[in-house]
Amino acid sequence: MVVFNQYLTFLNDLATVDGMSQPPAIEVSGLTKRFGEVQALSGVDLAVEPGTVYGLLGPNGAGKTTTVRVLTTIIRPDAGIARVLGIDVTKDPQRVRQSIGLAGQYAAVDEVLTGRENLELVGQLTHQSRSVVTKRADELLERFGLSHAADRSLKTYSGGMRRRLDLAASLVHRPPVLFLDEPTTGLDPKSRNDLWDMIRELVADGTTLLLTTQYLEEADVLADRIAVIDRGTVIADGTAAELKAQMGATVLEISFVDARGADAALATIASVVPGAETDGAVVRAPVYDGAKTAMEVLRAIDAAGLDVGGLTVREPSLDDVFLTLTGHRAEEIDPRPDDSDVAPAAAPGGAQ
Ligand SMILES: Nc1ncnc2c1ncn2[C@@H]1O[C@H](COP(=O)(O)OP(=O)(O)OP(=O)(O)O)[C@@H](O)[C@H]1O
Ligand SMILES: [Mg+2]
Repeated sequence: MVVFNQYLTFLNDLATVDGMSQPPAIEVSGLTKRFGEVQALSGVDLAVEPGTVYGLLGPNGAGKTTTVRVLTTIIRPDAGIARVLGIDVTKDPQRVRQSIGLAGQYAAVDEVLTGRENLELVGQLTHQSRSVVTKRADELLERFGLSHAADRSLKTYSGGMRRRLDLAASLVHRPPVLFLDEPTTGLDPKSRNDLWDMIRELVADGTTLLLTTQYLEEADVLADRIAVIDRGTVIADGTAAELKAQMGATVLEISFVDARGADAALATIASVVPGAETDGAVVRAPVYDGAKTAMEVLRAIDAAGLDVGGLTVREPSLDDVFLTLTGHRAEEIDPRPDDSDVAPAAAPGGAQ
């Protein structure tokens, strides 16, 4: 028997070494979900390699939270397949819940309890012994810089402290797969950077992470791969560099007195940068060599005798990605969802 097991291990190692990589940690295929009139998901496909960070990037109402809710067994999809560590989320939700942690878009911590009590509660819910939970809670409070506030009620915590505690709560049972739904929305730049550092540390431990965000910059600094989601469908995926390459390395914005001025200048600017488009009183162009192109554009405008109000060279934003990929802005599609379709059981580590 021992020899047989060793043989199996050997075969397993061989498969990995041979490039026959392990199955994805998260697998989603043809996922659909409708809420009344709203088609929240219309065929989402994703594959997340173990030990990597996957960024799901999209505007309000794109379907990010709905995808996370399906994967964390909070709601059932209408159709399609979703697996976590090879386990089907609809067929065996209990086993999926044992392998995942979730920090939702809205911190799911209890106001009345202290920070430490919140973590201990999650430990009890995930059936760990008291001594293990006490030790783990201390460790996490320390790691997330909350030791000083551990015995204070959550009512006294700031938004950033709640977010950190929520993230700590999702880690109490050391899940191999973690879902973070907009972990830094609403945080100030310093708290955001701190949280990014913590997330990087987690991933260095081998955790697989699916992260949703509205910010290209966040996906850029944290994610190995990014899927851009819009109106319930993945419209592009790749590394941050691959996505940005689709729209140029930087964006040039030339502003005019009014929209008429911008319209009049478009042809001149487009002769230097073919991808230029007007947006109100601004002409926007994705470029690869910002400074050099900016000089050429200014020369052309000057030669044409046109008046420029201002000129900016900046990094592409999520809006630019959208405009390039879809031809429309990343506008809000619908008001905030209600929770009418939430199943009674919640995933460990907090739910939304
Ligand atoms: N329980 C629900 N009942 C009705 N509609 C819902 C429900 N949940 C989500 N929706 C709708 O489904 C669409 C996708 O919502 P979802 O919450 O997945 O978007 P999101 O990408 O997470 O957006 P945000 O960035 O605003 O969090 C939206 O139009 C939303 O209004
Ligand atoms: Mg959301």
